[in-house]
Amino acid sequence: AEDPVKLMKQQVGKAAALRVQSNSIVGLGTGSTTAYTIEYLGDRLKSGDLQNIVGIPTSFQAEVLAKQYGIPLTTLDAVDRIDIAIDGADEVDPQKNLIKGGGAAHTREKIVDYLAEQFIVVVDSSKIVDRLGSSFPVPVEVIPMAISPVMQAIKKLGGKPELRMGVKKAGPVITDQGNMVIDVRFDAIDDPANLEKTLNNIPGVLENGIFVGVTDLVLIGEVKDGQPSVREL
Ligand code: A5P
Repeated sequence: AEDPVKLMKQQVGKAAALRVQSNSIVGLGTGSTTAYTIEYLGDRLKSGDLQNIVGIPTSFQAEVLAKQYGIPLTTLDAVDRIDIAIDGADEVDPQKNLIKGGGAAHTREKIVDYLAEQFIVVVDSSKIVDRLGSSFPVPVEVIPMAISPVMQAIKKLGGKPELRMGVKKAGPVITDQGNMVIDVRFDAIDDPANLEKTLNNIPGVLENGIFVGVTDLVLIGEVKDGQPSVREL
């Protein structure tokens, strides 16, 4: 039998791709869920169901997938708007605020997703939480020379910082921009908007993974009785 989480991701990734219209500029998100969105956008282009779209990738991963599936790409210098962005998330709260950056791509994702006229988030139901930070730490991208002072500053804020280490690499994870990531656990995040600003004010921090007030729609993949379905938040 197919893995139910994979089924949910496929279903929801496709549902988002169906919302993209011809002649639009599309922000392409990062992660295993939006990978299905990118694949399906490529299918729609090939079949002629969709015409004349151009993508702006949020990561090296998204760029590689877009090329693989035949989606033409551009950069922010060449466009005056983004019509729609579709991206994954690591946590989603009832106000549609997010924690992102599980793939260390949150800095570029924030640039692209915030510019989009319409921002759609695609997740499986395991990502839905009552309060941000319940199960996922906040990823913070940091310029390498500032790692120690940023860790100290984060401890003073009551966070537990951990330098993200590579899985198939010795040493820290290096982002697409050549920086490092500190994952920060907080006991409770009562005011995500405030924490987002406070973290970004620490010298050496490039961007953190808290996204507040920017999500227009969340598509949530679920499996009930073996049947995948999609609901909206
Ligand atoms: C990338 O940095 C993250 O923000 C991703 O969007 C997030 O990790 C979602 O990935 P999955 O769809 O693989 O869970």
